[in-house]
Amino acid sequence: MTTTTKVPDSPPVQRQKVTLPALMEMKRLNQSITMITAYDYPSACVVEEAGIDVVLVGDSAAMTVLGYDSTVPITTDEMVMLASAARRGLKTPFLIGDMPFGSYQSSDEQAVENATRFIKEAGCDAVKVEGAGTTLSRVKAIVDSGIPVMGHVGLTPQSATALGGYKAQGRTAEKAISIADDALALQKAGCFSIVFEAVPAAVTDEIVPLIDVPVIGIGAGSSTDGQVLVFHDLLGIYDGHSPRFAKRYSKVREAMIEGVEDYVKDVRSGGFPQPEHCYSIDPKELDEFRKSLKGRKKQ
Ligand code: KIV
Repeated sequence: MTTTTKVPDSPPVQRQKVTLPALMEMKRLNQSITMITAYDYPSACVVEEAGIDVVLVGDSAAMTVLGYDSTVPITTDEMVMLASAARRGLKTPFLIGDMPFGSYQSSDEQAVENATRFIKEAGCDAVKVEGAGTTLSRVKAIVDSGIPVMGHVGLTPQSATALGGYKAQGRTAEKAISIADDALALQKAGCFSIVFEAVPAAVTDEIVPLIDVPVIGIGAGSSTDGQVLVFHDLLGIYDGHSPRFAKRYSKVREAMIEGVEDYVKDVRSGGFPQPEHCYSIDPKELDEFRKSLKGRKKQ
């Protein structure tokens, strides 16, 4: 599949479907990988058109789309439904489905079964899981079943309570070493890429050269092979707490509120709809209709 997009200051380029080898090649060539979350058809169409390399249907959807106050409550059914909608809006980016809390913790069999749903039902190219520890065995099992897996270390929101809240991780030598060990273990278990979330930039700088697969950062500094942000944070749609790493590139929520306020004003003042928003009928048909209506009474 090939689509055309524009890169600033260069002629339009043909975009190829992003594959696992293409991501490895981008790392080798030191080309930054762009990744973003999307959770439905319109957001997927937007990121497709903007030329994003990798799309994550993140379990952050629990908060940004479904209104929960953490990522924990979202179910596999809900995630698969959102991922299917995103799939329909994408042609070129590599699509990853985020396995929600409770979908892979119980056993390797459970992990493979739910990972398979993201591939078969939603059309994802890969899945993402959080943490190391028991997750390592899940990664191996999912990879052995033929499904590519992305790892996630540092701040892992599904275990935010155990980590003491939504805080940067790896800020002591001991904790930083444990992030390095987790990342190396995830790579050994077969992950094709690893997300580093909320890790001091200097710690990331030391670990990245040890990792052969692409490292994607979110609040982890600039030495990673790519960056990921949450769609709603980046565009200013989400009204909840925004972490310091969530650079806001737009104020879409304000524009949406303004639009709906203008609509409310227009309807209340009679300014909408105008003739250009209405359908017409042939005058003869209208005349006949009016005559027929005369026989009818209000019930
Ligand atoms: O769920 C999500 O959006 C994520 C990203 C922050 C990496 O896991």
